[in-house]
Amino acid sequence: MIKLKVNGSVQPLDIDPGTPLLWALRDHIGLTGTKFGCGIAQCGSCTVHLDGEPVRACITPVSEAIGKQVTTIEGLHSPAGKAVQAAWRELDVVQCGYCQSGQIMSATALLERKPRPTDADIDDAMQGNLCRCATYVRIRAAIKAAANKSAQVAGRKMG
Ligand code: FES
Ligand code: FES
Repeated sequence: MIKLKVNGSVQPLDIDPGTPLLWALRDHIGLTGTKFGCGIAQCGSCTVHLDGEPVRACITPVSEAIGKQVTTIEGLHSPAGKAVQAAWRELDVVQCGYCQSGQIMSATALLERKPRPTDADIDDAMQGNLCRCATYVRIRAAIKAAANKSAQVAGRKMG
């Protein structure tokens, strides 16, 4: 029996350790916010965090997640995660929505690592997340809005 820590709770799973994390999350745990796009690490729609680092769940075996914190879109409650989700709503980023949980997971990991990202940082962090609806301009604007909002909140706390 494998035990995975997902969104703060322990999930016992009777599966092969080589099973892709994406199947464990969606089919065994029922967290369907993480999407299957390509299955070969080319689209980013399956992005989740392993100890805060963005990974492609379609090519990450469950064995790699043992002993780590797995965070999915359903459990994204960090300050950066909340700021990103609020900016996504405010700027109405989503079109069909299919790619967006992966986009939000990558954007949040970026802001947790770099609270004031440059355009180059955003390009670098988001280049593996594809969007068939081409919402890229709004995604970039929302990342900047989330960074500005977080900086204002931090400034108020210090002041
Ligand atoms: S489904 Fe994982 S990168 Fe496309
Ligand atoms: S919003 Fe449709 S694929 Fe990105």
